[in-house]
Amino acid sequence: MKKVEIKPGIYWVGGIDWDIRNFHGYLTQRGTTYNSYLIMDKKITLVDTVKHYLFDEMITRIKEIVDPKKIDYIISNHVEMDHSGSLPKILELNPNIKIITSTRGEKGLRSHYKNINNFIVVDSGDTLNIGKRTLHFVHIPMVHWPDSMVTYIPKEKLLLPNDAFGQHIASAERFDDEIDWGILSEEAAKYYANIVMPYGIQVEKALNALKGLNIDMIAPSHGIIWRSHIPKIIEKYTKWSRYETEKKALIVYDSMWGSTEKIAYTLRSGIEESGVPVTIRNLKTNHISDVIKDVISSKMILIGSPTLNNTMLPSIGGFLTYLKGLRPKNRIGFVFGSYGWGGQAVNEIEKIIKDLSWDKPFEGINLNFIPDNKELQEVKKTGKKLGEYIKKK
Ligand code: FEO
Repeated sequence: MKKVEIKPGIYWVGGIDWDIRNFHGYLTQRGTTYNSYLIMDKKITLVDTVKHYLFDEMITRIKEIVDPKKIDYIISNHVEMDHSGSLPKILELNPNIKIITSTRGEKGLRSHYKNINNFIVVDSGDTLNIGKRTLHFVHIPMVHWPDSMVTYIPKEKLLLPNDAFGQHIASAERFDDEIDWGILSEEAAKYYANIVMPYGIQVEKALNALKGLNIDMIAPSHGIIWRSHIPKIIEKYTKWSRYETEKKALIVYDSMWGSTEKIAYTLRSGIEESGVPVTIRNLKTNHISDVIKDVISSKMILIGSPTLNNTMLPSIGGFLTYLKGLRPKNRIGFVFGSYGWGGQAVNEIEKIIKDLSWDKPFEGINLNFIPDNKELQEVKKTGKKLGEYIKKK
C-alpha cells in the first residue's frame, strides 16, 4: 500500500474500496476511493479521513511518512461517514489532534461521535497558517451537505473540495491523465447526477466562489485527482449546475406483457425519424442510478408504465421517487403506458411530471391491452411530433 506524493510534501493517503457496489443505493460498478491527504509542514495536517473499514489502509500509508502521533490537525471538510468514519480511531491513537471544520461540521461531528471535542471552527474565508503554507477555507453548503467546505492551498495551487468533482472509481492510478477520459467523464457525470444534481444553484455559487483562485490541481475525496483536465471538468460542472441539456430523448419504461415496450420502441422510431437521438432504458435491466446519468444530458424524458393493481409498476414508482429527490430541472416530459382496465398509471406519472415543473406539451398515450398497427402508426406520428418539438427547444 503505497502513499502517493501529489505535490511536494503533500501525500494521498486514502483507501481504495475495490468491492463496494452499493453506495447508499448508487450502483458503484467500478468501486470507489475515499481520499485523505497528508500535508507535511510545521503543523502536520491530515485532510479528511476514510470510511471506518479502511482505517488500517489509511494509517499504513500515513505511517510510511510520519508517526500518526505527530499529526497536529485534521481538516474535516465534510461530516458524512465515508470521510469522517476513521476520525474516532485516529483520535484514539492521538487524542491531541485538533479538528478544523465549519460550524455545521462541528455540530454534525458531535452528533455522529459523542466523544470528539477538540474543535477549531472556521468560517468561510478564514485561513490557518501551518508553517510554510496557509490554508484557506471556503464553505460550499449542500455540495454535498450543509457542512461542506473546501480547503485551498495557494502555495501548491491545490484545491481539496471533498465531494465536489468526485467520481466513484477504484483504481491503482491516482491522476486524470492516467485513466481514459471516456471512463472519467462517464463516472463524473454519474456522480454529479446521483449526488449533486439537486443543488445546481449551490454548485453555481461554489464555482463562482472558486473563480478567483489559481488552481492547477483539484484533489477530491472520491476517485482520481484532476491535473490535466481541469478546464474540461469545470466546464461540465458549469453546464450541469445550470441544468443545460442536449437535444436528445431518453425513454425510461418497464413492461408486463410487452405492450408498453412496443409503444416505447415505436416512439423511439418516430423521434429518430425527426433526427433526434434516443436512448432507451428498460428498468428491468438498468439500475436507476445509471438511468439518472442519462437524465442529466437529455432534454426530453419519456416515462412509460403499464397499470398494475390500479397504479404504476413498482420499478417505475422507485425510479420516480429517486427522480423527485434529485429534481432535474428544465426538462420536457411525456408519459405513455398500456392497461387492461382502469389505466391509472399514466395519470399518476403525469402528476409527478407536473410536480417537477417540467414542460409537458402533449397529452400522454394510454392504450388498451395490445396496440394494433393503426394505433402504433399514431404512436409513431406522436414520436415524430415529439422529436420536432425537441429540435425547436
Ligand atoms: Fe463522499 Fe457526501 O460524502
